Amino acid sequence: QQRVAELVESLMRDVPDFPQPGVLFKDFTPLLSDGAALAQVVDDIARRHRGEVDVVVGMEARGFILGAAVAYALGVGFVPVRKAGKLPGATVTEDYTLEYGSATLEMHQDALHRGQRVLVLDDVLATGGTAAATCRLVEQCGATVAACEFVLEIDALGGRSQLVDRVVSSLLRA
Ligand code: PRP
Ligand code: MG
Repeated sequence: QQRVAELVESLMRDVPDFPQPGVLFKDFTPLLSDGAALAQVVDDIARRHRGEVDVVVGMEARGFILGAAVAYALGVGFVPVRKAGKLPGATVTEDYTLEYGSATLEMHQDALHRGQRVLVLDDVLATGGTAAATCRLVEQCGATVAACEFVLEIDALGGRSQLVDRVVSSLLRA
């Protein structure tokens, strides 16, 4: 776990003032483009949830990349949570606020079954709005959030306070 945290620390890039002045953007594309690092991160997440989840839910856009890889590693399905207006079928909807704005997330209403155990997976936990809205979408469908998992958690933004009483893990807390 120590080694994975160090790997994440070395491969997350800080981009100041993106997407707007005052925001320090945490960019995980250097981690994605390093094949060995990507495999280690995906395998670490999959190992800790093997046998305990039935489906992975990942959030547009960066949660898709890791989420699909982890779902494949676990041999389970992947369900996308998208920003409003992108999914073709009937959806459940949740509004949320972000560090830099507010938005709506949607998921297909028939994508999850009652009682399914879900791993919610994203690159970054910041204010927690995205993850909390995603958990509410999962529960609107009658499924259960087994765990929430992030590559990087920005402690100062307090995302955990939006995920109280949930199982939350991050590869790196900074
Ligand atoms: C970023 C990041 C998380 C979210 C975390 O996504 O990928 O999904 O912010 O922020 P929060 O904890 O304050 O909600 P963003 O909305 O920028 O979109 P993207 O993944 O499509 O780039
Ligand atoms: Mg995102």
